[in-house]
Amino acid sequence: MKWNNFNIEWNSEITNETEKVALAKKVAGKVKDGDVIGFGSGSTSFLAVKEIAKRIKADKLNVIAIPTSYEIKLLCESLGIPTASIMEFKPDWSFDGTDEYNDQNWLIKGRGAAMFKEKLNIVNSKKVYILADNSKHVKRLGQKFKIPIECFPDAIKYVVQELEQLGANECVLRTGKGKDGPVMTENNNVILDAKFTNIDKDLEKNIKLIPGVIESGLFIGYDNIEILK
Ligand code: 5RP
Repeated sequence: MKWNNFNIEWNSEITNETEKVALAKKVAGKVKDGDVIGFGSGSTSFLAVKEIAKRIKADKLNVIAIPTSYEIKLLCESLGIPTASIMEFKPDWSFDGTDEYNDQNWLIKGRGAAMFKEKLNIVNSKKVYILADNSKHVKRLGQKFKIPIECFPDAIKYVVQELEQLGANECVLRTGKGKDGPVMTENNNVILDAKFTNIDKDLEKNIKLIPGVIESGLFIGYDNIEILK
């Protein structure tokens, strides 16, 4: 027996939508028959999945998606794109959005709290296309966004103390829509948004070394990344 299908829509206004749709079409043009593709999260990735679904249908392609959030997994299912976990397949390539990128292709991601699985796809892909509309380029990383840090809930106080030692001026426990209290990630952890004015090449590794930190949304020196503009 099959479940009745249901529609998945993006739950708020999509900023820079025209530009994001153009990027979505661009990345959909890169899909080849037989590809295993890491699917990122966020509104740009959401639009990219819809464009990829159109190509799969038009060109009768066989593709497997490794989604980075339930939102994208549900979208794939509603559009008939088969999904798998990174435990079953290593992606041939991936795409994703970003909140910020600088001239060295360093990124801050994780507005959507999906950076743990996003980083797993990115480190496991030979090639990663980051779909970045005009608003995403910054001179200095951290200019617009804090660094999201997924943290084991009982470790919050220790992690904040250590982030301050690393130079964080402000650490905010993320709270959000649809739920009282902290936003819980898909891995049952919390998010700390940490403001750093000085982001150096060692910061991603130093954050990761703190016991209690699961992952951060900072990406420094990933040479498999190509920014699609
Ligand atoms: C989600 C992310 C997104 O890729 C990032 O926030 C960009 O989002 P959008 O495409 O909606 O601008 O990292 O965790």
